[in-house]
Amino acid sequence: MAYKLLYSIGKMLNAERLIEITSAHISGINYANIGDAGLEFLKDVSKVARFSVHTTINPCGIDAGEPSKFPLPKDFIDKQLAIIRAFKKMGAKDSLTCTPYEGDNLPPAGSHVSWAESSAVIYANSVLDIKTNRESGISALASAIAGKTPLAGLHLEENRRPKFLVKVDVELKTQLHYGLLGYYVGPMTKDTIGFLSKERPDKVKLKALSAAIGASGASAMFTWSSEGKGYHASFGRKELMETLDKLNTSEDGDVIFMGCPFITLDEVRWLAGALRGRKFKKRTFLHLSRRTYEMASKEGLIDSIKRSGAIIVKDLCPSLTPLTKYMGVDKVIVDSVKAAHYLRSSFNLGISIKDITEIIKGYTDMV
Ligand code: F3S
Repeated sequence: MAYKLLYSIGKMLNAERLIEITSAHISGINYANIGDAGLEFLKDVSKVARFSVHTTINPCGIDAGEPSKFPLPKDFIDKQLAIIRAFKKMGAKDSLTCTPYEGDNLPPAGSHVSWAESSAVIYANSVLDIKTNRESGISALASAIAGKTPLAGLHLEENRRPKFLVKVDVELKTQLHYGLLGYYVGPMTKDTIGFLSKERPDKVKLKALSAAIGASGASAMFTWSSEGKGYHASFGRKELMETLDKLNTSEDGDVIFMGCPFITLDEVRWLAGALRGRKFKKRTFLHLSRRTYEMASKEGLIDSIKRSGAIIVKDLCPSLTPLTKYMGVDKVIVDSVKAAHYLRSSFNLGISIKDITEIIKGYTDMV
């Protein structure tokens, strides 16, 4: 079945053949998204299928290590745990993360992989030089079983070169600014985007840019350089402010969510420093992977952040869980464009989007 599916996708993409992959990363783990039909399908597949390459899985709808941590219904928790069991039975690592490159799944540069989860796909292609198309949960599952993917799209060098150039005409200072750039440009093209800018963003900013392109568009890769001939679109202060206004629908929020995509170890280190001697005034959730949690714990960073009153959450996607419904929340403060997009489109929540430094300044007290 896996081969048949990959063969059909390959045919559709005019692929010459299937190629071997080094790893797979699968989305569609969250019971809130795939429901009973998805759970039954995975249970059936897991009776016979086994993964032939290193495979990790996306976040889910609960903190799987502490399932009762939040007021979610027992039925939801049980079904979510059954989905994770099915993936583990097939051989997946229960990474439950959308930043698999943070130690759970980091093949060498130049590797061909089959990854789902748009934010990780775009980051892998653009920052890590790992080659993957933007797979669906099902095609990544088939690739994990077969160990193959069609030789098409971003597995071919010619498609990795930028075809849509964007001149950045404004100084981008924060992660949020990079998210706004990605969200604005995302719908303009499916091809590789070439950003032209004198600035040199760090990995945290490039992660925000990747996630935002994935949230609003279909491109799976960008390049970043200071030079290029001509351009198809430009992004200046006007576009930045308009995009911000489009996402911002509320002055304030009941709770703060940070970690979409999940917070990386570098970000945890920064947060531990920024939050020293400070206490949050609102309920604040910081989302990260169990792997990052483990690495951060060894450095004493988790205890340090917990002193700020922040609740650290592993495994759980903040943007696609019904958690807010069960917490009685109807407006949220977020630092991520992708979180703003999904929390509004999926749960109709009011969104107050701010940069992380603005959140710390505005919503913590010195103690
Ligand atoms: Fe990750 Fe969920 Fe955001 S999977 S990228 S935290 S929508």
